[in-house]
Amino acid sequence: MVRIAMLGAGFIGRFYADSLHGLRSRDRITSVYSRTEASARKFAEDYDVPFWTTDMEAAIKRKDVDIVCISLPNNLHLPAVLACAKYKKAVMTTKPLGRNAKEGLQMLKAVEKAGIFAGYLEDLCYTPKFLKALQTVRSGALGKILWARSRETHPGPHSDWFWDKSQSGGGAILDLACHCVEIARNYIGKDVRPVEVMCWADTQVKPIDAEDHAIGLVRYASGAIGQFEVSWTFRGGLDLRDEVMGSEGTIWINNFLRTGFEMFLSGQGAGYVAEKAETSSGWIFPVGDEIHELGYNAMFTDMFDAMEQGREPAETFYDGYVVNAILDAAYKSAQTRRWEPVKLEVWRGKEETEVISAFKEYDKDHWFLTEELTHDGSHVLVLKEKKSGKLVRRLL
Ligand SMILES: NC(=O)c1ccc[n+]([C@@H]2O[C@H](COP(=O)([O-])OP(=O)(O)OC[C@H]3O[C@@H](n4cnc5c(N)ncnc54)[C@H](O)[C@@H]3O)[C@@H](O)[C@H]2O)c1
Repeated sequence: MVRIAMLGAGFIGRFYADSLHGLRSRDRITSVYSRTEASARKFAEDYDVPFWTTDMEAAIKRKDVDIVCISLPNNLHLPAVLACAKYKKAVMTTKPLGRNAKEGLQMLKAVEKAGIFAGYLEDLCYTPKFLKALQTVRSGALGKILWARSRETHPGPHSDWFWDKSQSGGGAILDLACHCVEIARNYIGKDVRPVEVMCWADTQVKPIDAEDHAIGLVRYASGAIGQFEVSWTFRGGLDLRDEVMGSEGTIWINNFLRTGFEMFLSGQGAGYVAEKAETSSGWIFPVGDEIHELGYNAMFTDMFDAMEQGREPAETFYDGYVVNAILDAAYKSAQTRRWEPVKLEVWRGKEETEVISAFKEYDKDHWFLTEELTHDGSHVLVLKEKKSGKLVRRLL
């Protein structure tokens, strides 16, 4: 049994609690901190939590707490992690790790100095489809990974603090691209160094200081490209899609919006459909088991197994720090309109990476380009002569 202190009783705190207390789990939330008495008490009642408080340290330092779960606004991740280090309590924190790499690095150093377990709650790297896709990529079945694209777009977050850059640290890039970047890192290889970022960002629909949508390209040392597409202005629900292209295969994933589950409702008596669904009538697209489809169950299983087995979880504070550093470069590039280097004060991956080359030999004198059965019934082969560079078209 793992005993958890929940810091934050809002949107993600409740999703986490549904997962932690779900599926006949033995793990229990034993203390909860929230900013207001009313929400702390309500959370404690809803999830049968014996202790609630509006004093963060009081929630952390209790004897009946094995691990602290940080579900607070982005600006409070750092002070909460420092408090866990002070009381030497294991900790796991939601995304993004910090508002920038400087904060991320402070958190990484604090947990390592305190010698405490630390996990990064990147749920979208634990969805059932992601885990199967990653296993396939790691088996080598997709060949060399050339391009990993990830998209998260929705009509905008539910709480006021997200829209205030001083608290959130940024807009759609920090909030959503943190997921996309980590998804791509997993596919491309976490030990492959992210080199530089090119990003376009703008504020077109919401009257805020931060960006409301953006597109970015992250170039890795292997030559692979990670692409993120994020928006707080997308209409139509929560769009979570990934695409991986390898020299031997392709994966397309739709995690949420159009997963094959379609429902028509007249609107009479309709209520909650799925996270950020914009409508509850007409043709709608519910999600069978949101907690599972969003990866929370597999994520907490990995966190607690890792803690008990004395190993690192699949998603660590170091990963959160690297993501922060990539996003810092994205923000800089959106300003300068140039490729900007990813600055990593601490790099624990490969120093040298072989640049991807997936040329296929047809025979000793030729490279293979393509083979196709065309609509007129011809079987075409295109080759390139190695010595002369001449292209050769053959009918088979
Ligand atoms: N898929 C995901 O992993 C996911 C999804 C949503 C949010 N998040 C992250 O979870 C964190 C919290 O987001 P949320 O959506 O739960 O927010 P929220 O506003 O719904 O809840 C935040 C909670 O923090 C507490 N709090 C303490 N001090 C506060 C302060 N000064 N201002 C506001 N709240 C304060 C309150 O209990 C509040 O309920 C953020 O870091 C966000 O990025 C992660």
